[in-house]
Amino acid sequence: MTQPGIELQELIAAMEQRRTKVEQGGGPERLKKQKEGGKLTARERIEYLLDPGSFLEMSTFVEHGRNRLMDGVEAPGEGVVTGSGTIGGRQVFVFSQDFTVLGGSLGKMNASKVTKIMDLAAKTGCPVIGLNDSAGARIQEGVDSLSGYGEIFYRNAVYSGSVPQISAILGPCAGGAVYSPALTDFILMSRGSSYMFITGPEVIKSVTREEVTFDQLGGADVHTRRSGVAHLAYDGDEAVLDGVRDLLSYLPQNAREQPPVRPTQDPAQRRNDALLELVTPDQRKPYAMHDVIRELVDEGTFLEIQPDWAKNILVGFARLGGQSVGIVANNPKSMAGTLNIDASDKAARFIRTCDCYNIPILTLVDVTGFLPGTQQEYGGIIRHGAKMLYAYAEASVPKVTLITRKSYGGAYLAMNSRDMGADVVYAWPTAAVAVMGAEGAANIVYRKDIKASDNPEATRAQKIAEYKDAFDNPYVAAAKGYIDDVIPMEDTRERLIQTFSMLRDKEEVRPYKKHGNIPL
Ligand code: HXC
Repeated sequence: MTQPGIELQELIAAMEQRRTKVEQGGGPERLKKQKEGGKLTARERIEYLLDPGSFLEMSTFVEHGRNRLMDGVEAPGEGVVTGSGTIGGRQVFVFSQDFTVLGGSLGKMNASKVTKIMDLAAKTGCPVIGLNDSAGARIQEGVDSLSGYGEIFYRNAVYSGSVPQISAILGPCAGGAVYSPALTDFILMSRGSSYMFITGPEVIKSVTREEVTFDQLGGADVHTRRSGVAHLAYDGDEAVLDGVRDLLSYLPQNAREQPPVRPTQDPAQRRNDALLELVTPDQRKPYAMHDVIRELVDEGTFLEIQPDWAKNILVGFARLGGQSVGIVANNPKSMAGTLNIDASDKAARFIRTCDCYNIPILTLVDVTGFLPGTQQEYGGIIRHGAKMLYAYAEASVPKVTLITRKSYGGAYLAMNSRDMGADVVYAWPTAAVAVMGAEGAANIVYRKDIKASDNPEATRAQKIAEYKDAFDNPYVAAAKGYIDDVIPMEDTRERLIQTFSMLRDKEEVRPYKKHGNIPL
């Protein structure tokens, strides 16, 4: 209501003046500093990420929670820009921390802006995207700041698996603050300008005397190559934000919806003759599983997740006949494709992500077993490998397994065999399913015969050949129904598209429980 004597135009001007002040964040000097080194500002990031003109800002005029230390401190926008918008026409919610305002530090009211859009995202069934660039807990706000983080972490966990949550790390993300991204589905980092760690270089130096830079400690390469904390690394803010858009295109809006279908010019009947050259019957000759995947999927497009960590297993998104699929595949070019601790964690997490968001899973199998060694046993490969078994059995999305070459032992089960819940299992003529490789098997089963023989080497060779004849093929498993069909390699794309289409309306009912108890 207009107060007497005050013109409407004045009120509008006052509102615009306040809005402009908020939009200027920490002011020209700090904005200039932010842009040095190629970083975008909080608002530029939102503008770049969302469809043009779609941003609807929320909580614009929120101010910091006053206390003695914050008296007289100005924090336009409270250090974070929040709201909704669209990406490819689909609604998302976004928060973008503004480092130019008190280092983007998080206080109680800053957190309330973030939790507001998280709640709206949950209520409306839309993804949440966090653009992180913050010095962490706002020191002046003490326990209120910790409480703000708690409110965010709580929602990260409660909304996990309900709506997709994606974190882009575009600047500092330190201390306990790292646990918000860590609780989300995906972490994307910018190389050179972002870092994540629990305790920084100074604290580390004082406690352990180790000297390490920010980048060496928690840069994008560390987290996408060594720790497995982050999923994807890019050069520059724009590339990270492009990555977010791309990733979202494979995901549904929420757990009740199906992922979007992207029509393709790539024919479903396209023959895969290239596979005949690529995957030969010689079990010792490795091939690039990446090439197999690209040959099969729409337009050869594969968004690999965590491509530089645990390279012995490949996970990522692609489309078959326009439908999103999650692919889990052994990589014979790395550690002969064996499964180890990191590979198990990587695959199990990805399988569960697909299952949360109704993305069917294609598993490509070429595996000799779990990696032997004390390091693996002491590190708990039993516990970690169990995660894969658990994740596959738990997943109720359509699951198709294709055995390309070897599938041995426990790894045969861990790569989603029929018994572990695969809906359909295919094999190529090059496949071999057995408890172990022929040489190892012959040495154990026929040890006495080999030892007693006049010519042990000839006997060993003969026993290996016998074992190969008996088991090194897909037909023993097919004869018992563990494999549904041995298919021509060149028809694989068409078969997979037909099979996922057949499984589209699959439903699986599970016994009542609060939630399962995955071995962690
Ligand atoms: C309030 C902060 C702040 C903080 C920085 N600022 N950190 N204000 N709380 N935590 C302010 C600075 O005073 C400065 O204000 C502006 O932000 C930019 O900071 P600079 O230091 O000038 O920037 P830069 O040189 O780029 O260094 C960035 C930085 C450094 C490395 C992140 O600021 C830093 O080390 N900050 C402290 C980080 C920290 O210890 N955070 C608490 C982590 S513990 P002016 O007005 O000069 O521009 C934590 C616990 C969370 O987060 C627990 C959750 C469970």
